[in-house]
Amino acid sequence: MTSARPARVAVLISGRGSNMQALVTTQDESFRIVLVASDRPEAAGLAWAREHGLPTFALAPKGIGKPAYEAALDAALREAGAEYIALAGYMRLLSDAFVARWRDRIINIHPSLLPRYKGLDTHARAIAAGDATGGCSVHVVTEELDAGEVLGRAEVPIHADDTAETLAARVLIEEHRLYPAMLREFVRR
Ligand code: GAR
Repeated sequence: MTSARPARVAVLISGRGSNMQALVTTQDESFRIVLVASDRPEAAGLAWAREHGLPTFALAPKGIGKPAYEAALDAALREAGAEYIALAGYMRLLSDAFVARWRDRIINIHPSLLPRYKGLDTHARAIAAGDATGGCSVHVVTEELDAGEVLGRAEVPIHADDTAETLAARVLIEEHRLYPAMLREFVRR
């Protein structure tokens, strides 16, 4: 079912922002990206967003503390009229209070086949475990790290000569397909 108007989505990034770019370039009548925000003012993805005319917000928590940082972020999200938040390589843990304020309206893309390999170094851990496949998952964000409802996964083979870097590159291609599709479904449900 198509909603009457696009859902207003803010994307939070910490770095390169290739998943954010995938969301921006595939936005349509189901969702619009209304803000790109980052905890790292130097994030490469922010420059891309500015060049593409998107509203941006950048603030480093260092020095002001997490509560003040999150209050400013929350204000920017509301100012932008965001209804949903898509974490896209956002490498900072959101506080329980922030997650509660945005309950069931934050999703994340994680580079593993959840529930396997929550946290960091997912590809190296999948290779070290001898897994036949790796991949990525889109899930609802809850207070528990990488543990909310999984909305969808994409799987790729792990080759005998894979390194964490070659596997990450193969998975990233799937991330760029999976994330827009899962966001579209999420805002419609
Ligand atoms: C992506 O691979 C994403 O899945 C991962 O960081 C990368 C960000 O790349 N996210 C996490 O590890 C979250 N725990 P991008 O900035 O190019 O989208």
